[in-house]
Amino acid sequence: MGLNTDDDVQYRTLSNVGKTNYYFNSIDQPSPKTQKTESTMGEFISYLMVCRNVLHAMHLKTTGVSSYATHKALNELYDSIAESIDEISEAYQGYYGELLTFNFETGNEYLSMKPVDYVAQILKHVEECKTKYNSNSMIVNEIDVLIKNLSSAHYKLKFLS
Ligand SMILES: [Fe+2]
Repeated sequence: MGLNTDDDVQYRTLSNVGKTNYYFNSIDQPSPKTQKTESTMGEFISYLMVCRNVLHAMHLKTTGVSSYATHKALNELYDSIAESIDEISEAYQGYYGELLTFNFETGNEYLSMKPVDYVAQILKHVEECKTKYNSNSMIVNEIDVLIKNLSSAHYKLKFLS
């Protein structure tokens, strides 16, 4: 379950891990190793919860000359992600009438990244996840708020830090 590689950003539902239909495996289909499985909103929210924690840890670890802009930008970002987590989850649960199932990674592997690179990685992943909800503009609008806040933080980390 690698969320940490740039080119292969994907995640799987627990129920689909290891489930591969070899009978229909042909050259037209991706090999079992690269086959992407449907992700769930619960996993997306779990991913965001890990991001929020990692960004908070990065905020606390920020030191050095002109680090205040980074410290501040990370604070604003993890606060806004916490808001988005709540808004998206409650709207989704209410609209579809089902409760989300969470599934967490530790996020430890992201702690050594530069905050600006980590935020860029989150942005890319969130953009990819958004495409799964094209049929529901309410969810897309909420994810766009998240994308706006990630973009704003990326700008501050890249140009003001
Ligand atoms: Fe703080």
